[in-house]
Amino acid sequence: MTPQEMKAELKSLGALVEGRLATVFGDGATPVRLTESMEYSLMAGGKRLRPVLCLAWAELVGASAGAVLDFACAIECIHTYSLIHDDLPAMDDDDLRRGKPSNHKQFDEATAILAGDGLLTEAFTLASGLALSPDRVLKAIFHLSTAAGPRGMVGGQVLDMGLTGKSASLPQLRQMHAMKTGALIESSCVTGCILGGGTGGDLALASEYGRAVGLAFQVTDDILDVVGDTAALGKPAGSDEAQGKSTYPALLGIEKSRELARQSVDQALAALAGFDHPRADFLRAVAEYILDRTH
Ligand code: IPE
Ligand code: IPE
Ligand code: MG
Ligand code: MG
Ligand code: MG
Repeated sequence: MTPQEMKAELKSLGALVEGRLATVFGDGATPVRLTESMEYSLMAGGKRLRPVLCLAWAELVGASAGAVLDFACAIECIHTYSLIHDDLPAMDDDDLRRGKPSNHKQFDEATAILAGDGLLTEAFTLASGLALSPDRVLKAIFHLSTAAGPRGMVGGQVLDMGLTGKSASLPQLRQMHAMKTGALIESSCVTGCILGGGTGGDLALASEYGRAVGLAFQVTDDILDVVGDTAALGKPAGSDEAQGKSTYPALLGIEKSRELARQSVDQALAALAGFDHPRADFLRAVAEYILDRTH
């Protein structure tokens, strides 16, 4: 699959996710300001990588995208909440996100905190409403909540705050990246596989692929913070250095960081080696894209 074909596919699966996300808070049961704040960030674009990975892994093992769409949207709600909170003054204190003023700039801090809380909680309303067998849904929710919580993303964000202004060792960085970013990306793949009816072997490969892609993704995010530009990124370039963040480029330099991301992508490709399926071709192309992306 060519990079152009992959991008077209990413766009079309992303559009499926956006179509559903746009209707989530449409029942009028949420205070208007809260809906505005949640939708402001949720519908501001974004690559929709995590929900697309979930859909693609489900399809790879035989399910339809439609059957797992609400779960994929739940993952995007959790991701968007993490971005809103990540930008808060008490955390990374960034004023731009997805090409627009950060949520707390557009609204206020209390609203941004609550919009994040709302998105996180709504994710479990979406996920638990899935019309698939309850044992699959429960297993997937267990995986996702573990990955997003203290043992995963939230724990990783705490490690990130603790290492700010300090020089981290490579094992510390690896652990932080695996938790703050790798866990949710891995879970996007594994939960798609669980919901799609994947077997034990498939689940192990989904996990391997997701972990490798997740590490490559955050290393590339760190590199883009140094070499990217604010307009393309839609978030402030140079933010990590300004804040003394522990990153791969800060520890190893750009070239070594690129090599490391490359190795990680190769690991992801190896996990897919046994699959002969259009969705495996797509997942291979996505792994390559992670290295080459400009935002
Ligand atoms: C940014 O994620 C935060 C990280 C974990 C690196 P993305 O780069 O996927 O952000 P969006 O969803 O496209 O805005
Ligand atoms: C974010 O890492 C990880 C999250 C869980 C949100 P960063 O702080 O590097 O993400 P950006 O660069 O602000 O998107
Ligand atoms: Mg951060
Ligand atoms: Mg940040
Ligand atoms: Mg970053």
